[in-house]
Amino acid sequence: MEKTIAVLPGDGIGPEVTEAAVKVLKSIAMRYGHTFHLRYAAIGGIAVDQYENPLPQETIEVCEASDAILLGAVGGSKWDQHPSHLRPEKGLLSIRKHFDLFANIRPVKAIPSLLDSSPLKEEVAKEVDMVIVRELTGGLYFGEPKRRNEKSAVDTLVYTRKEIERIVNHAFEIARTRRGKLTSVDKANVLETSKLWREVVEERKNAYPDIEVEHMLVDSAAMKLITNPRGFDVMVTENMFGDILSDEASVITGSLGMLPSASLRADGFGLYEPVHGSAPDITGQNIANPSAAILSAAMMLRHSFNLHSEASAMEEAVMGVLEDGYCTVDLFKDGKRVVSTDTFVTKVIEELEREFVSE
Ligand code: NAD
Ligand code: IPM
Ligand code: MN
Repeated sequence: MEKTIAVLPGDGIGPEVTEAAVKVLKSIAMRYGHTFHLRYAAIGGIAVDQYENPLPQETIEVCEASDAILLGAVGGSKWDQHPSHLRPEKGLLSIRKHFDLFANIRPVKAIPSLLDSSPLKEEVAKEVDMVIVRELTGGLYFGEPKRRNEKSAVDTLVYTRKEIERIVNHAFEIARTRRGKLTSVDKANVLETSKLWREVVEERKNAYPDIEVEHMLVDSAAMKLITNPRGFDVMVTENMFGDILSDEASVITGSLGMLPSASLRADGFGLYEPVHGSAPDITGQNIANPSAAILSAAMMLRHSFNLHSEASAMEEAVMGVLEDGYCTVDLFKDGKRVVSTDTFVTKVIEELEREFVSE
């Protein structure tokens, strides 16, 4: 198979973890006889520095000419005082909007060999297997008006029925391929957008009689996510709630550095990115956990290219290295061997090789 991938490393640890994912992709391509053409482009702070634009036209064109997008992370203190249109984060929001990537899929799975790395008790974290389906192109992030002056600031939380319907339908479809339970998270006791959200879920559930539907208020969901995470199968929620709850959910896996994501358009075109950010506190030290980036690339193989065996091979290779007791420092616990980002990636590639030979 021949595919073109737009690679957008971004800022901070973005380039480190993206390079890790690229190395693993190259190893997959070689072993399985595929050709992945990699087209690098700038996004975020580095693009502000080079083009005075966090999402340059050149980058959009590279992405438009590609079959999928692989992204690292954006942001850093260097650009924190910039006006909103010249902030790295604006590049990420703009690319999501430009490509209409409304469905952000964030799987959260407890990994048996990492249970002791989680601050949660083993009996709470074990066997968790859920997916957060986060609406990604609406809500508070994009609503107008959005402005500030000396005396006040305004952000607008707006959702159309259509925007809610498409993400809710997407979540129902995912629930159908899993354990058949959908938890819709909102703040319907206070927010108008949430009342509409709940109404739409109630309407759509008639088309999915096989799915068990539950509504949960976001404050209570934040609590249940760490007291009874196995109670969730598919969670669907609006943009900002999904952002916050997914970082919270990452503690189940032991580290934010473990969570991958796919941001999808209706026709399946996708951008693949770790849930974590640019981690300025650990940038350039060769200690970042590349798992989220590698697992995001695996999601790309599965969702965008239909390469299921290859995606599984990548995931199993990461799990194999963790099972052997190797980890990056974010996952350290007694009995584990801490390795650098580079060494972790080398071990993942060796593991792939072993899997391939034993097939
Ligand atoms: P962050 O996710 O970058 O980091 C939070 C904490 O988790 C830090 O202590 C960091 O060291 C750790 N961490 C994150 N990823 C890790 C990894 N792969 N391995 C090991 N440890 C890891 O969030 P933050 O510090 O709040 O934000 C930093 C910058 O990143 C900000 O500019 C923010 O806007 C941006 N950000 C970008 C994205 C994105 O590009 N998708 C996501 C979140 C935050
Ligand atoms: C994420 C990030 C982004 C978001 C920021 C950097 C704009 O936190 O992808 O989770 O809030 O969506
Ligand atoms: Mn986030």
